[in-house]
Amino acid sequence: MRLSESATIAFGLLCAATASVHPRRHYETRNYFVVQLDESASPDEIAQHLGASHEGQVGELTQHHTFSIPKENSADLNTLLEHVRVRRTSRRAGEGHDITLDKRDRSLEGILWSQMLAPKKRLVKRAPPTNVVARAPMKEEDPVAAQTQKRIATSLGITDPIFGGQWHLYNTVQVGHDLNVSGVWLEGVTGKGVITAIVDDGLDMYSNDLKPNYFAEGSYDFNDKNPEPKPRLGDDRHGTRCAGEIGAARNDVCGVGVAYDSQIAGIRILSAPIDDADEAAAINYGFQRNDIYSCSWGPPDDGATMEAPGILIKRAMVNGIQNGRGGKGSIFVFAAGNGAGYDDNCNFDGYTNSIYSITVGAIDREGKHPSYSESCSAQLVVAYSSGSSDAIHTTDVGTDKCYSLHGGTSAAGPLAAGTIALALSARPELTWRDAQYLMIETAVPVHEDDGSWQVTKMGKKFSHDWGYGKVDAYSLVQLAKTWELVKPQAWLHSPWLRVKHEIPQGNQGLASSYEVTGDMLRQANMEKLEHVTVTMNVNHTRRGDISVELRSPDGIVSHLSTARRSDNEKAGYDDWTFMTVAHWGESGVGKWTVIVKDTKVNDHAGEFIDWRLNLWGLSIDGSSQPLHPMPDQHDDDHSIEDAIVATTSIHLGPTKTEAPPIPTDVIDRPVNAKPTAQPTSSSEAETSDLPTSTKPGATESPSTTSSSDSFLPSFFPTFGASKRTQAWIYAAISSIIVFCIGLGVYFHVQRRRRLRNDPRDDYDFEMIEDEDETQAMNGRSGRKRRRGGELYNAFAGESDEEPLFSDEEDEPYRDHTLSEDRERQKNTSGDHSH
Ligand SMILES: *[C@@H]1O[C@H](CO)[C@@H](O)[C@H](O)[C@H]1NC(C)=O
Ligand SMILES: *[C@@H]1O[C@H](CO)[C@@H](O)[C@H](O)[C@H]1NC(C)=O
Repeated sequence: MRLSESATIAFGLLCAATASVHPRRHYETRNYFVVQLDESASPDEIAQHLGASHEGQVGELTQHHTFSIPKENSADLNTLLEHVRVRRTSRRAGEGHDITLDKRDRSLEGILWSQMLAPKKRLVKRAPPTNVVARAPMKEEDPVAAQTQKRIATSLGITDPIFGGQWHLYNTVQVGHDLNVSGVWLEGVTGKGVITAIVDDGLDMYSNDLKPNYFAEGSYDFNDKNPEPKPRLGDDRHGTRCAGEIGAARNDVCGVGVAYDSQIAGIRILSAPIDDADEAAAINYGFQRNDIYSCSWGPPDDGATMEAPGILIKRAMVNGIQNGRGGKGSIFVFAAGNGAGYDDNCNFDGYTNSIYSITVGAIDREGKHPSYSESCSAQLVVAYSSGSSDAIHTTDVGTDKCYSLHGGTSAAGPLAAGTIALALSARPELTWRDAQYLMIETAVPVHEDDGSWQVTKMGKKFSHDWGYGKVDAYSLVQLAKTWELVKPQAWLHSPWLRVKHEIPQGNQGLASSYEVTGDMLRQANMEKLEHVTVTMNVNHTRRGDISVELRSPDGIVSHLSTARRSDNEKAGYDDWTFMTVAHWGESGVGKWTVIVKDTKVNDHAGEFIDWRLNLWGLSIDGSSQPLHPMPDQHDDDHSIEDAIVATTSIHLGPTKTEAPPIPTDVIDRPVNAKPTAQPTSSSEAETSDLPTSTKPGATESPSTTSSSDSFLPSFFPTFGASKRTQAWIYAAISSIIVFCIGLGVYFHVQRRRRLRNDPRDDYDFEMIEDEDETQAMNGRSGRKRRRGGELYNAFAGESDEEPLFSDEEDEPYRDHTLSEDRERQKNTSGDHSH
C-alpha cells in the first residue's frame, strides 16, 4: 500500500488539489520563468504583454514573480525576453543607440532580470547509508554518570523511554562527549518560543513525539504543493528524524529533542525535483515566524561535484538574513557533507560555503572524527553524530516510532540548530551574525595536538577538520544571555585582480597578492573581519588537480580548495566563491596572498586567470552602515582590461622564460636533493614575497634561503636551478618512470590510509618532510608538521573500528533505500520501546 502510494506520488499522478499560494507546476505542458520587476511594474500587466500566466510572487522575494506559458509559445517569448535583456545590457554599458521598441516592448522595460526555470533533482540528504551489522557491544556505563543522568531526568520530569540511550544529550559511557545541555534545561531554558523549520523530505506531524511541538503555520510541502509536509514516500524519514533531534517533546514517546519545548516546522523539498523559484520560496517560508532553517542536504558529496545555488536562491538567502525574523535574520544551519572519503570538501558546495550559513561537521561519541565528515575552511563547528559503532537516537516516522541509527553530518546539523534554538529562547534578539559569533566563542576545541589547529588572531583555535570545535550548549547559552549584539555587517570587495599566468605543476605554487590598507578598511567602515571570500577564475583541463590556499597578513592559512581524486571535470573554477571563517577577528590590513597549486605532474594544465578578495566584517559605525545589495548576475562581470594586475609569483618555480615548466619539473623531481642544495637566485624575487608561516605572529621571513620553503614534501624534491635541469635532460625518461611509480605508490598508500581530504594533502606530505628534516630551515612551523603526522596515524585505525558506518559504500552520500530501511527496522525493532 505504501509502496504503491509512493509510486503514485513519485510519478506525480496524485494531485493534492489543495488551494495554495504555490500553484502546482505542469512542466509537461508549460514552460516556467521567473522575472524580477522594477517597483512600478505590475505583474499582471507584464503577464498580459507577455501572453503568459502570472503564477505568483517567488516566496518572500518581493519584485520576483513566476510566469508560465504553454510550451508551444515559448520561442516567441524567449525572443522577446532576450530583446529586453539586450536592451538593458546596452543601456547599462552606456551605449547610446536605442533599439526601437514598440508600445508593448516599452511596457516590458519594467523587467530587470529574467530566467527560465527547470525542475532539478540534485539535492541529496546527508545521511550515509547505514548498512547495519551487529552493533559492537556497548562499553560499560560510568556508574556515577548513570546516577546523575537519572537524577537529571527525574528533576526535569523526563520519562521518555529512550532518553537513556540519547548519549548526545547525556553520555554515561564516554563521559563529557555530549552537547552539555542538561545544565541549560535545569536552568529552565528548553527552547520555548523558538521555531526551527526542518527543510527536508517532510516531517511526521502525527508522530506523538512531534505532534505537541509541531508548528503548522511555518510548514509547507513544496513537492506536493500541500500545506501539510507529511512524509509520503517510503524513504521520507530523514526530515522526521532530524526534527526529533531538535524538538521531540518531553513525553512518554521515544526521547527528547535538544530544545524539547521549542517548536518545529516541516518544509518538504527533497522528495521530488524542485525548481529554483520553489527552493527560494522554501528557504524563506514563514520567515517572520520560523527562526532557524535546519538543512541537512546539498549537492552530491561525490568528490566530483562543484555546485552552488542559483542566483534566485542566493537572493532568498540574503533576503532571509536581511529581512527574516523582523530583520534580525533567519539562521541557516547546513550539514557540512559526507564526502570526506571521496576527498570532498565543503568549499565545493555553495550552500555550506555561504557566509549566511552555519556549517556543521560531525564528531562521534568517542570524540573521533567520522570518516565521512568533510573538512573545509568554511566549517564553523562540529556536533555529535554517528561513528564508533553508534549513532543518534531520535524519533522516526510513525505514531510512536523511534530510530537509533540516524547519522552522517545530517544528524550533526540539527543538534547545532537545536542548540541555537536554546540560545534564542534565552536571547531572542540575537542576529544571524551573533549566532555565528556565539558558536565561535563557545565551541570547544578537540584533539588540540592533532596538528590541524591554528591559533587565530582573536585567540581562538581553528581547524579545517573541526571548525572552531564542538558545540557546547551550556556555554553557548550562558554567553548568549549577556552577549552584546554586534554592529551591522560591513564589507570590502577588491577589484578584479588579473593574474593570467599558467599554473606550474608539481612542487610549486602560483602566488598572487593584494595589499589591503588601513585606509581602505576605514573607507569601507570595517573594524575587523568575520568571513573572507575569494572569487576566482582558473581554467584547467582537470579540476581535481588544483588546490588553493589563502594566506592572511596575520599568517593564518586557509585551504580554500583541495585536490580531489574523482574530480575529472574538464574545467577549472568559473567565478567560484570560496569561503573561510579562519580569519575571524583579524584586522585585514596587509598583504593577502592566494596560492594556486597543481601538484599532479601530467598533461592536465591550466591557467590562473583572476580573482577578487572580499572581506566581510564588523562595521566601525553601525548607524551609517547600509545593507549589502542583493546578489546580482552582474556581480562577477569583469573585464580583464580593467582589472588591476596583481602581484604574482611562482613559488619555488623557475622563471617562466627559463624552461618549459612541465618537462623540467619531471626531470628534476626525482633527482633533486635537499633544498639546502638549491641556489636561491632563480626564485628570489618571487618567493620573497610570500609569507612563510602558518603560525600567527610568526615573521614573514623574506629570507631567500627560504626559497626552499616547500608546501610539499621532499618526496617531491624542491625544484631549483634550471642549470641542473640541463644536466639531467638525458635522464628524463627514466626519471619520469621513477617519479610515476613513486607517485603511484605514494597516493595509493595515502588513499588507503587517509580518511579525510584537505589539509591531509599538506600534512601527510609534511610528515615525510619531517623525516627528511628539511623543515629545520623552513619558515613554517616544523612542530605543526610533525603533529600532522601524528594526526594521520591517530586516525589510521579508526576505519577498522567502524563497522556501522563504513565508508566503503558505493554511494555514501545517498540516503539508504526503502528495503534497507525495512530490513533495519526488523533488525533494530528491539530498540523501539513500543
Ligand atoms: C558543561 O556544563 C556545566 C554546567 O552544567 C559547566 O559547568 C561546564 O563548564 C560545561 N562544560 C564545558 C566544557 O563548558
Ligand atoms: C584558458 O584560457 C586561455 C586564454 O585565456 C585559453 O586560450 C585556453 O584555451 C583556456 N583553456 C581552457 C582549458 O579553457
